[in-house]
Amino acid sequence: MTDRPQQDSANSMWGGRFAAGPDAIMEAINASIGFDRRLYAQDIRGSRAHAAMLAAQGIISDTDAEAIREGLLTVLSEIEGGNFPFRTELEDIHMNVEARLKEVIGEPAGRLHTGRSRNDQVATDFRLWVRDQCDAVIEALQALIRVALAQAEAGADWVMPGFTHLQTAQPVTWGHHMMAYVEMFGRDLSRFGDARKRMNESPLGAAALAGTGYPIDRHATSQALGFDAPMANSLDAVSDRDFALEFLSVSSICAVHLSRLAEELVIWSSAQFRFVSMSDKWSTGSSIMPQKRNPDAAELIRAKIGRILGATVALFTVMKGLPLAYSKDMQEDKEQVFDAADSLMLALAAMTGMLSDLTANRDRMEAAASAGFSTATDLADWLVRELGLPFRDAHHVTGSLVALAEKKGCDLPDLTLDDMQGVHAGITDKVFGVLGVHNSVASRQSYGGTAPDQVRAQITRWKEKLA
Ligand code: ARG
Repeated sequence: MTDRPQQDSANSMWGGRFAAGPDAIMEAINASIGFDRRLYAQDIRGSRAHAAMLAAQGIISDTDAEAIREGLLTVLSEIEGGNFPFRTELEDIHMNVEARLKEVIGEPAGRLHTGRSRNDQVATDFRLWVRDQCDAVIEALQALIRVALAQAEAGADWVMPGFTHLQTAQPVTWGHHMMAYVEMFGRDLSRFGDARKRMNESPLGAAALAGTGYPIDRHATSQALGFDAPMANSLDAVSDRDFALEFLSVSSICAVHLSRLAEELVIWSSAQFRFVSMSDKWSTGSSIMPQKRNPDAAELIRAKIGRILGATVALFTVMKGLPLAYSKDMQEDKEQVFDAADSLMLALAAMTGMLSDLTANRDRMEAAASAGFSTATDLADWLVRELGLPFRDAHHVTGSLVALAEKKGCDLPDLTLDDMQGVHAGITDKVFGVLGVHNSVASRQSYGGTAPDQVRAQITRWKEKLA
């Protein structure tokens, strides 16, 4: 398509057998440097470990290893200082770093790639990167859980309506509701921990696919890079991206949890609910409607699952059906993971900030909890307990009482004893003791129930767990 002069496009890394350089569009589709430069720190770290091992094994000289070490530090500081000459014709971060190393230290740079391939190099770099992300997400999740715990502690006995089908069901507490998310984010935390542990094996030294004839020490590089062990099969080491798939899968689950909480905040902050007030820091106004306070951050958190799950589906689709070992398809792994990781970190940070600045409107929640016949189940339970009715009959009697209250336009506690006895003669005035929302939540003492004592016990357990 485009003729380009051979001398500045034939690749110096592998151009030996090539008479012409790549087409410009070939270069565009092939290059990953536009995004995989984010792996620079992991790439240099991996190369340093590899060079040190080569010297320790007598495969390269100590002098060369020292030159490589120094040179890599120079390259690192150039990249970090923003004055590294990234070049698209050098395809990716691995060749950009190595080519620059050659400019900086000359001939010894050519010895770095002994007993190694870009295939095990990229697998190593990317594992290190995803592992770092797991650590970052774990920290962010812990911060979010702490904020949810603080909300739960403040409102351990604040009554709010609990919903099923988004219809008033039974009273619960604000603390109980917050602790539900603590449990969810807690499982996310353990999933990221599990994923990290499973991915923590070193591909380095698998070389192109079959291992190498050089007397390398994969245990040494594995240890230097903080891995638990070298991966046991060189084909697997360069071929699989299950660690990235697992990171994306776990991120998707976490993003679902974030999305559900975000949705609740959107609903709760509406004029119709007013269960919570978002601080100005996390709201936006409208350019036309002066009264508006929009929960944009919550809405965007609610939406982030779209791209995170999208990235997950994209990488699953790339990996499906790929024959062993490395194929260039796998270069498509990085942008998906980068975008998902960035989105998740931003969503976690925004949720943490929003939740910590959030005010729950205790009075408003309690008023809402008292409406909608939320203690009907307590009434039915009372009929079972005090009058010995079978639960099904008690359910029926209570249903009639709810219908009566609805007809009279009042709540259950506002019915008179006469009203009650008209439906079931055995009812006594003791029934009024169970119709209040505070009695209702206090009575739900079953393990994991909404009673403030139970909620406080769970808060204590989580605080100890995080300490
Ligand atoms: N940029 C490549 C990637 O991300 C590095 C590995 C290239 N390996 C190869 N055999 N061409 O997958």
